[in-house]
Parts: sequence; structure tokens; C-alpha cells
Amino acid sequence: MSEPLFLRTLKGEKVSEVPIWFMRQAGRYLPEYRKIRKKFSNFLEFCYSPNAACEVTLQPIERFGFDAAIIFSDILVIPDALGQTVRFVKGEGPKLESLEIDRLSLARVQAHLQPVAESLRLTRNALGQDKALIGFSGCPWTLFCYMVEGGGSRDFAKARQSLYREKSQTTALFAMLEQAIVAYCQMQIHAGADCIMLFDSWAGVLSCDECQRWAAAPTARIVKQIKQAYPHTPIILFPKGIGANLPDYLSFLRQENYFEALGLDHTTPRNWAKKQLTSVTLQGNLSNIKLAESQQDAVKETREILQDCKDIPFIFNLGHGILPHTPIEHVQSVVETVKGWRRDL
Ligand code: CP3
Repeated sequence: MSEPLFLRTLKGEKVSEVPIWFMRQAGRYLPEYRKIRKKFSNFLEFCYSPNAACEVTLQPIERFGFDAAIIFSDILVIPDALGQTVRFVKGEGPKLESLEIDRLSLARVQAHLQPVAESLRLTRNALGQDKALIGFSGCPWTLFCYMVEGGGSRDFAKARQSLYREKSQTTALFAMLEQAIVAYCQMQIHAGADCIMLFDSWAGVLSCDECQRWAAAPTARIVKQIKQAYPHTPIILFPKGIGANLPDYLSFLRQENYFEALGLDHTTPRNWAKKQLTSVTLQGNLSNIKLAESQQDAVKETREILQDCKDIPFIFNLGHGILPHTPIEHVQSVVETVKGWRRDL
């Protein structure tokens, strides 16, 4: 059997069909997810339970036939593994205990995250050979944001100030995060991930030069190290919200020419992004709000996206994670539209 459509597209092969998956596809919009979610009062305990994590990872594949499964976990398992305990408070999002760098330790990371490796093994075994399994991590800047702020924030001002006020602490934490992320991604590939996606969800709050220094540069170093061990595992980058900083970000990362795809958020025009890319697959970028609010508008934009991206290697996705109140029928019609579409080769 040939490789999954998703991986062939990532490798730039010319294919007539467009693969589809959604960020946060295993989540609260699915009744079958909510049923399992109820069994855990602690969200990270759920992430660290391989059987439950495997089950919910497969749910959206079974229901919609998505081309890729993304392992059920969270980007905040890394701070948790380093020793900064993370809790999820219902209705409030993540809460991290106050940051004390001296108490963090890289030595704990591998052992702490073994359950995620086990989830990947179970899932890769249970998943059809025509589907790909995505492993993932947050990028250093986005993890730094949550670690410094102790949770979510509107603009992550405290994290941005830290880049100037606590320089030695910042350098030390970035170095530690880089190592932890490389080790974690390599562990995920070893356990069965066919691809790695790196989320830089808050790259968009940085200024132009900061974006180069604290988002592009550390990500480039991470990609390079993952590729040294696993040269054939494709990598998708998602520097969310960087807008007009995209050309500089890409030229920095392209020097190494080491990543395969760019995830596009819904604010960035596709035709402009396309012009910035050479031999890189594009992934995106239907608005998650539109998908939740209007079936008709979502299908209309889906067709426009397919049309815009018919001449490049392209993976259909949302511009950000699916929202919990999204009606399942809306997802169903977008999936049908994408699966029914063929491009001329
Ligand atoms: O299906 C998948 O995409 C795989 C699992 C996944 C989760 N989080 C599960 C989750 C992935 C890839 C993530 C990534 C993640 N987590 C990011 C990067 C992507 C992005 O959204 O920008 C970030 C910033 C986080 C941190 C995080 N996790 C927050 C801020 C929250 C609270 C907000 C919310 O939606 O409740 C989470 C919780 C979380 N992670 C949930 C899920 C399914 C919801 C928790 C629940 O079910 O109770």
C-alpha cells in the first residue's frame, strides 16, 4: 500500500485529492469525547492515560475519516514535566504554579512523558495504514509565555517584559525548553509519530526583531536537531498570527531548508502566503468561528480555499482549533466538500 495521502502531500508529491484534518479535532464538540472526558477531573491525568488518550485520538478519524490523527495531549505537558505543575481549571483554562527556574529539571522530562509515548504506540497500532499520526509540541516562545504568566493572557505583556528584565533567566529557560522540546519530539517519533507539528500560538504578540530572535531562531535550532536524528519525518510549523513577519520568519527557517509545511491562521491571505513559499506545503486556514456559525459560509469558503490552493501542495485545516460549540453537521459538510474535490494534475 502506498503512503498515506497526508504524508505524500507533505513530501510535495502531486496528488489529485486534498487531505484534511482539524486542529483540536479530538475535543468537546464531540459527544463521544465528552463521555470519556467526564471520567477525569484532572485534564493532564487524562493526557497521561494512554488508553483513554488513544481512544479519543481515534474518535474524529472514525467519525469523519480525517486523513491524520493528532495525538491527544497538550503543549503544557512540557512545563509540567520540567517540574512547574500545571492544572486546568474549568472555565478558566490552564494555571501554572509560580515559576522557579532553579527547581526545574530536564532530567525528569523523558520519564514524565512516557505515557504520551505509550499513547502514540497504541494509536499507531490501531490506526489504519492509510492514516498518518501527528505528534506535536509547543515552541519555546509559546511555552515561555504560559510559564512566565502562570496561565493565559490577553497580550502576554509580562512574558514580553521578561525578555528585557530577566535576561539571564530568559536565556536559561529558552535553552532548557529547546532541549526538552527536541527530546520530546524525538521520543514521539520513536514511539510512532509520522510527522511533528510545532505550535507557536503566541508568536503574533512579538515585534519584528523579537519574532526573529525568540520565535524563528529557537524553532530553527529545534527543527535542525529533530532532523539530525529523523531526517525523513516531516515537520509542520504554525507561527500563529505573525502576519507580515512571515517572509522574514520563513527566510530564517529556509536557510536550513528543514521543514515541510506551514500552518496558516485565518487572518493571513492565502494568495499572499503562497507567494512567500517555495517547495513548502501549505496547511489551513478556514475560520473556526465561521465553521461554528454558518454551515453555508463555511462550505463556501472551503471551496474558495480549495480553488486558491489548487496549484500547490496543500492540506485542508482550520486557521485555529475547532471551538467546543461547533455543530457536527458543519464539520461533516466541510469534510464532504474537501473529500469530493479533485484537482487536475
Ligand atoms: O485534537 C488535538 O488537536 C490534539 C490535542 C491538543 C490539545 N491541545 C488538547 C486540549 C493540542 C494539539 C493542543 C495544543 C494546545 N494547547 C495549544 C496550541 C494550539 C493553540 O490552540 O494555539 C495551546 C496554546 C494549548 C494550551 C491549552 N490547552 C489551553 C489554553 C487550553 C484551555 C482552553 C480550552 O480550550 O479549554 C487547553 C485545554 C485543552 N487542550 C483542551 C483540549 C481538548 C480542552 C480541555 C477539556 O477537554 O476540558
